[in-house]
Amino acid sequence: MLDPTDPIDSVPNALGRRYLLKGLGAAALGGALVVDGTSAAATEIAHRSVADAPIDGTASPNDRVPYLGVHQAGVVNPRPANGMLASFSVRAETLDALEDLFKTLTMRIAFLTVGGPEPQLDPKLPPADSGLLGPIIRPDNLTITVSVGASLFDERPWLAPLKPKHLLRMTGFPNDALDAALCHGDLSIQICANTQDTTIHALRDIIKTASRQLVLRWKQEGNVPVVAPGLDGRPESARNFLGFRDGSANPDSSDATAMESIVWVGKEDGEPAWALGGSYQAVRIIRNFVERWDRTPFGEQERIFGRTKISGAPLDMPDGHESDVPDYAADPEGKKTPLDAHIRLANARDSAAARNLILRRPFNYSNGVTKSGQLDQGLLFIAYQANLESGFIAVQNKLNHEPLEEYIKPIGGGYFYTLPGIRDAGDHLGSALVTAARGASR
Ligand code: HEM
Repeated sequence: MLDPTDPIDSVPNALGRRYLLKGLGAAALGGALVVDGTSAAATEIAHRSVADAPIDGTASPNDRVPYLGVHQAGVVNPRPANGMLASFSVRAETLDALEDLFKTLTMRIAFLTVGGPEPQLDPKLPPADSGLLGPIIRPDNLTITVSVGASLFDERPWLAPLKPKHLLRMTGFPNDALDAALCHGDLSIQICANTQDTTIHALRDIIKTASRQLVLRWKQEGNVPVVAPGLDGRPESARNFLGFRDGSANPDSSDATAMESIVWVGKEDGEPAWALGGSYQAVRIIRNFVERWDRTPFGEQERIFGRTKISGAPLDMPDGHESDVPDYAADPEGKKTPLDAHIRLANARDSAAARNLILRRPFNYSNGVTKSGQLDQGLLFIAYQANLESGFIAVQNKLNHEPLEEYIKPIGGGYFYTLPGIRDAGDHLGSALVTAARGASR
């Protein structure tokens, strides 16, 4: 049995994708997160890759993800059980006002992700905090990830020349039925934490403190199922609402080199200098027609995805493990894995497809009941990539008209650019963008 407090060197290789001490994990997760001065009290995390499901009994309110680093937190670190994507309009019409907004967000991130007592104010004034978490805020694995949409640049001439080169307003794909009220935004905030109370508390804190600058447009909450520790100790991907493991073939987010090429924008990407260390965030709210799916034969479900439902193993090696790599070259006619199976279309596993890798970080959502009496469930799909065009857009174009479309309907989302990280305690979100805009206006 693995003791998560074992030094990293003693962790067996078979378990290597998952188990790390939190402080060590911070260094490994993209090699960039800088541990802030108070992290000594952080407790361990028992898993480390984005795909891995949270393990039952391992989460603690004291879990802390460092918020300082070259990259923002909340992208390559494992998903906790709860996630939310909120989209806002930005009121700031001047560079000073935008800088003020970024500083306010940074200040709240610095407090909420570290935790501490809330100030007690004069009872004649509104309280400093909503009180949802009591008088002491605990970090609870909270990450707050801020990204900006194309409209932030398009509607501000003093910012427009600095727009990341692939950032555009999301356009519809053939199977989409986009609801305008659930699309786009000047700024997105992804909030993730062990508990839903913490994500809601953070959202309400931000709405209150940035109320002069931000107007909430839409939000979608979701969760990642918590799983029992696997019998063989190997990492397991969480299941989505169609009952399949989701994340099996995700790139290993603890591999800093892979993340530098797949997720983080670097010098070779030809983006504006301020954008280095950021990433493109593609968000899709994808409704699942679960009643129809539950009446679909088991074998057909497996052929639609190209994976076995129980273990997640690829169909050409059904007794294998979800991490096994399918051999499509040995199955050119699709007798084992249909040519139009979701995973085969999404990644043909050839050298061309290697240019389209993305890091998926989705959450299941369950919103209640539609007007026609169906469950309103689906996937809050979030993916990060260094190039939106060759990442999400290319993969979605390959998936257009796939058999899975009969059971899913994208209804919202947007494209955003995740800002580079907050480098140190003297830095703030968007500082490089603000400096570049100031330089350009001189
Ligand atoms: C409700 C919608 C979706 C569902 C239920 C779904 C489900 C799944 C499942 C079960 C797998 C197999 C396990 C895994 O490797 O993660 C998978 C793989 C994958 N999906 Fe999706 N997916 C959805 C939408 C999308 C979208 C919108 C994209 C991107 C445009 C996408 C891209 C991928 C990729 C790249 C893989 C890995 C393929 C591989 O490398 O073998 N999926 N998805």
